Amino acid sequence: MSTWANLGLQDSASPLMEQLIFFHDHALLILVMITVLVGYLMFMLFFNSYINRFLLHGQLIEMIWTILPAIILLFIALPSLRLLYLLDEINEPSVTLKSIGHQWYWSYEYSDFNNIEFDSYMIPTNELATDGFRLLDVDNRVVLPMNSQIRILVTAADVIHSWTIPALGVKVDGTPGRLNQTNFFINRPGLFYGQCSEICGANHSFMPIVIESVPVNYFIKWISNNMNS
Ligand code: CUA
Repeated sequence: MSTWANLGLQDSASPLMEQLIFFHDHALLILVMITVLVGYLMFMLFFNSYINRFLLHGQLIEMIWTILPAIILLFIALPSLRLLYLLDEINEPSVTLKSIGHQWYWSYEYSDFNNIEFDSYMIPTNELATDGFRLLDVDNRVVLPMNSQIRILVTAADVIHSWTIPALGVKVDGTPGRLNQTNFFINRPGLFYGQCSEICGANHSFMPIVIESVPVNYFIKWISNNMNS
């Protein structure tokens, strides 16, 4: 999760988020190179006399500064498309989770397992444990197995919400009357925090998401305990 003074991306907990970070760094590097070059040229303009006895045209330099930016854009566009299609791929998921946005909480359904369903509310500050995270912890966490392909179906009951987990590289809008799909693969155990990221009303800030990533046998235990009750 994000802690003090972390203004960058969170550490990834899934292969897709790792790829997103690589792409971000790649694009940023190109951006820095362009900014430095353009900055240098603009600075040197201060020392230009704007007078040249022989300069009438410059066909070569115009060819270069027309074609070069197009080639640079290709170096961003092709990896971007690769990522886009990679994010859209569904790889035979072993668990499907349905998350439904409400004003202002999330509810979840494990449709594969006797349709376990529960609501997940933020814990108010005055009820928070001393080791709790303010505006981020919930009463019922989403338990999911690590090292497994997981599919999530996102929708909403009232207005548009957005199911967003930065560490997993997931951000899907929950729209009333629609069922959106995405998938991810959690590659380590731990707690992964997220928040609704679609301005959805007065308590938009107070509908966080907590994913508890556990080994598969723990997940089976959890799911069978909940199926019996
Ligand atoms: Cu739900 Cu913002």
